[in-house]
Amino acid sequence: MHVVTLIPGDGIGPEITKAVMDIFAAAQVPIQWEEQNAGQTTFDQSGELIPTSLLKSLEKNKVALKGPITTPVGKGFRSINITLRQKYDLYQNVRPSKTTPGIKSRYEGIDLVLFRENTEGLYSGLEVYDERLGIADSFNRITVAGSRKICRAAFAYAAKHGRKKVTLAHKANILKMAGTLMLNACKEASNEFPQIVFEDKIIDNMCMQLVNKPEQFDVVVTTNLFGDILSDLCAGLVGGLGVVAGANIGDDMAIFEAVHGSAPDIAGQGKANPTALLRSGIMMLHYLGEHALADQIDKALDATLLNPEECTGDLGGKASTSQFAQSIIAKL
Ligand code: NAI
Repeated sequence: MHVVTLIPGDGIGPEITKAVMDIFAAAQVPIQWEEQNAGQTTFDQSGELIPTSLLKSLEKNKVALKGPITTPVGKGFRSINITLRQKYDLYQNVRPSKTTPGIKSRYEGIDLVLFRENTEGLYSGLEVYDERLGIADSFNRITVAGSRKICRAAFAYAAKHGRKKVTLAHKANILKMAGTLMLNACKEASNEFPQIVFEDKIIDNMCMQLVNKPEQFDVVVTTNLFGDILSDLCAGLVGGLGVVAGANIGDDMAIFEAVHGSAPDIAGQGKANPTALLRSGIMMLHYLGEHALADQIDKALDATLLNPEECTGDLGGKASTSQFAQSIIAKL
């Protein structure tokens, strides 16, 4: 039995985490959930944004499935997602995007995995505002150690999964120091994996190439901000935010969560697509060594996706979140 911390989050989080728990229960996945939450609703109830009990649970279990948590824009508390990623050095944000039969998209043959550096860059939280001069500075902190770790992780993943190519997306032509540091770290990592082709692309060209000919990419590695933007772009290439999974992985802890956010526009209406979180859960099952169960649930999901009428509105169907989950359960 695996003990896993479950963070439902807010917005659509509770609806999609319930769908995933129902599917896992029906598949008899040997997981004991330890439910903990964080964010504004938790603060309103307990006075803590990130309760100590959540941190203790994470530190004990070392693995979590997490729903999205709302971050206020422009003011208020700092992102809880970023805080957890930095606190536990979950330096790899791994986000696969793949075209799937049944899911409408403008493209075919996309099968790429994005490795986003998850703890540094413009998300380091180093910002100062000089009110007198009206100048705000946000520091793009990139370290040699952090760049080496994420680039090596991308190459190691490519080698382990029979992938052929790693592409670094960067801006070393303008960010002469921070950008070049990441470029050099990637060149260094590529020397260790001579069987994997290494290429680098400047981020603006990378965006154009991704829209124009996305099937050319295999494993993509990049810094935090670029990775945040590219992963939503990649979601758009393969059917939208409702279908793409993600994982925050460190050396001894991992938190699995969808790429999307709390979707306040559809929260509480039973409209949310649970696929992205379910696929994150499937990634988690592989991480836990439960490969057969992961494949079984994946197949039931794929079979359901072939019938758009059994899916939620974002995929052209009319099903609610829980009806979608029940259709998957029926195919297990
Ligand atoms: P969002 O990803 O929540 O929503 C963008 C659009 O995609 C919306 O139209 C939404 O309805 C749709 N969408 C997202 N997930 C969907 C799903 N599962 N099924 C169907 N449609 C779906 O992005 P937004 O609106 O920019 O952010 C909302 C909040 O989420 C913000 O407070 C943001 O900070 C937070 N956020 C949290 C993340 C996390 O917890 N890891 C990640 C990204 C954003």
